[in-house]
Amino acid sequence: MTLAADTFDFVATLVRDRSAIQLDRGKEYLVESRLAPLARSAGATDVDAFVRALRADISQHESVVEALTTNETSWFRDLHPYTVLRSTVIPALATAGRSPVRIWSAACSTGQEPYSIAMTLADNFPSLKAHIVATDIADNVLAKGRSGRFTQLEINRGLPAPMLVKHFERQGPCFEIAPHLRNRVMFRKHNLLEQPPGGGPYDIVFLRNVLIYFDVVTKRSVLARVRAALAPGGYLFLGAAETTIGVDDTWERIQVERGCVYRTREGKRI
Ligand SMILES: C[S@@+](CC[C@H](N)C(=O)[O-])C[C@H]1O[C@@H](n2cnc3c(N)ncnc32)[C@H](O)[C@@H]1O
Repeated sequence: MTLAADTFDFVATLVRDRSAIQLDRGKEYLVESRLAPLARSAGATDVDAFVRALRADISQHESVVEALTTNETSWFRDLHPYTVLRSTVIPALATAGRSPVRIWSAACSTGQEPYSIAMTLADNFPSLKAHIVATDIADNVLAKGRSGRFTQLEINRGLPAPMLVKHFERQGPCFEIAPHLRNRVMFRKHNLLEQPPGGGPYDIVFLRNVLIYFDVVTKRSVLARVRAALAPGGYLFLGAAETTIGVDDTWERIQVERGCVYRTREGKRI
């Protein structure tokens, strides 16, 4: 069954206003498949009926936005950011005397990204003092991240076997991250359309694989808020398919071996 055009338009507007995620025409199948479970549990006959009821019931709007987020993630995603972190960024911050090092993993999904950062620090800089704040707009992924509990399938997505042995404990069918790593990551709800979370200024921001969902005006405003949240000389990591080039030229892309990191032009002099 195809979704009515006004159903799609209502959902696309709601999701864009609340999260800045763009749902262009042609994404009807996505809206329908993501909202079908919500419609079923609300007892609606189909997604159109569910959305008709939704227009008068704002209490459900947040769960609709959450259902339309894409939470795809993996351990040590793309590898290079973690190599650059280890080889260049942390040593530079240590030389500059930054302690504690403050890290923000923005749009962290279910926690694989901040926990990959925590493992990198624990394995390579055991005496480094660091605070990691991990944020996302969606409550369900934050709850999962906070639990520190992952299925075998989730573990299989990029976690090297020695890391599994060293940093996780089996709990029934799942694996739980060691408490000292879990306690190092503070999960908080945060919308990138709003002011950055407290706990800064940050020396490092991971803002990976989320700008791709936004239009250029939103990308620019998110990058401006991240710039304001960064400590002088701080570092920004973006996703492999993302760049500041042509979006916000106050950033400079620095190639480090096969990876890259961004700094503000004035930050680079520090
Ligand atoms: C594809 S995941 C990226 C996860 C992780 N950063 C990585 O690279 O593996 C994108 C995440 O962005 C979050 N997100 C989308 N819009 C957001 C917004 N406006 N504010 C905060 N988080 C948002 C989604 O909930 C989702 O968990």
